[in-house]
Amino acid sequence: MSTLINFIIQPSDSLNGEIRVPGDKSMSHRSIMLGSLAEGVTHVKGFLNAEDAMSTLKAFRAMGVEITDPVNGEVTINGVGKYGLKAPEKPLDLGNSGTSMRLLSGLLAGQNFECTLTGDESLSSRPMRRVTEPLALMGANIKTQANGSAPLHISGTKKLQGIDYVLPMASAQVKSCLLLAGIYAIGETKITEPAPTRDHTERMLNGFGYSVKRQGSQATINGNGKLTATNIDVPSDISSAAFFLVGASIARNSDVILRHVGMNPTRTGVIDILKLMGANISILNPRKVGGEPVADLRVISSSLTGINIPERLVPLAIDEFPVLFIAAACAKGQTILMGAEELRVKECDRIQVMADGLKTLGIDAQTTADGMIIKGGKIGGGEVVSHGDHRIAMAFSIAGLRASAPITIQNCTNVNTSFPEFRELATSLGLQLQSIEV
Ligand code: S3P
Repeated sequence: MSTLINFIIQPSDSLNGEIRVPGDKSMSHRSIMLGSLAEGVTHVKGFLNAEDAMSTLKAFRAMGVEITDPVNGEVTINGVGKYGLKAPEKPLDLGNSGTSMRLLSGLLAGQNFECTLTGDESLSSRPMRRVTEPLALMGANIKTQANGSAPLHISGTKKLQGIDYVLPMASAQVKSCLLLAGIYAIGETKITEPAPTRDHTERMLNGFGYSVKRQGSQATINGNGKLTATNIDVPSDISSAAFFLVGASIARNSDVILRHVGMNPTRTGVIDILKLMGANISILNPRKVGGEPVADLRVISSSLTGINIPERLVPLAIDEFPVLFIAAACAKGQTILMGAEELRVKECDRIQVMADGLKTLGIDAQTTADGMIIKGGKIGGGEVVSHGDHRIAMAFSIAGLRASAPITIQNCTNVNTSFPEFRELATSLGLQLQSIEV
């Protein structure tokens, strides 16, 4: 059990300076998964050394893959090939990580061994039928708990069949789970998505020499390929950069440069939304690093205005809504979010928990079934709960840049799941954040 941490944020004036936030979480998970299944040695740079990505790394070690400890973001994976994983001796504990559990369930459905996937309280309450149902259509044997959640018991089979499946929700985790099962299936697996979601799995598989074809909204993979080791350069996580994109926008007299940020177009919804609200964000030095677009971002304070968030941007900014709600609370007028019911099944119910915290801080925030209506206003102080959700904890920390009194955020230990350096980097830019053991 790690120690329980609360954050206390003193009203802070501005953010200034230049930082590089840690590596992309989604890409870090995938680098371990695909590097393990590849033939040969894969070197990863920019790996996110945080609990979620480490859950994936430890799971593959437990299945017999030699992987070095991350040192300054560098990891070496001795790939065992597509059929080289070994049965783990114990259940694989995936902590807080939905990505690990959903992607692994697809990949493990096609192995020749049994295993069990477990997680913490939050992960054990998240919906898993969205992966187990389509996997069952492919012939997988996976048992969930009666309510469809983890622990998952997987009896791998060599008889998976490709499917043609239309995702009922825009989810990169479900899409990726089925593509990874598709590596082990007989014939083609075709996945159609209702809206574009992050495509790191498709890009990285292609980078490992495993062809994934894209035709409009459909991705197709064939079970007869193999993965060949490669080198991966993981850019900074735009989802972590987002806290400072909002922070420097809402805090007066701010000027921040964020270096080497991943700019994959399936992830940049947060920039589009903030720009629609009037944010001053410049994209500097756009370049390509290992098949993924990267840029430096400069953010200068601005006065934001409330907007109706275009629904097409929702999946492209799905992890950034907690901090976008803080931007909306500081904006002039009303911001309306619709079509974001997926936020209710993240690490916590991010619609309810953010609305509760915003109300505590004096902001008018009304929840709807699939979103929120926020009226910009004056942020006061108070004590809010993060429900152990890393992004809720960091979002309310950023609210301190416009608060009139201190904000205490309960239970911030899980910031370590995606961004262990948050406190250090945020304080280096000027946020007055104290972390207290409770
Ligand atoms: C992720 C996909 C998203 C996102 C999560 C990471 C991924 O989840 O919220 O943090 O790495 O594929 P959904 O696909 O469930 O929306």
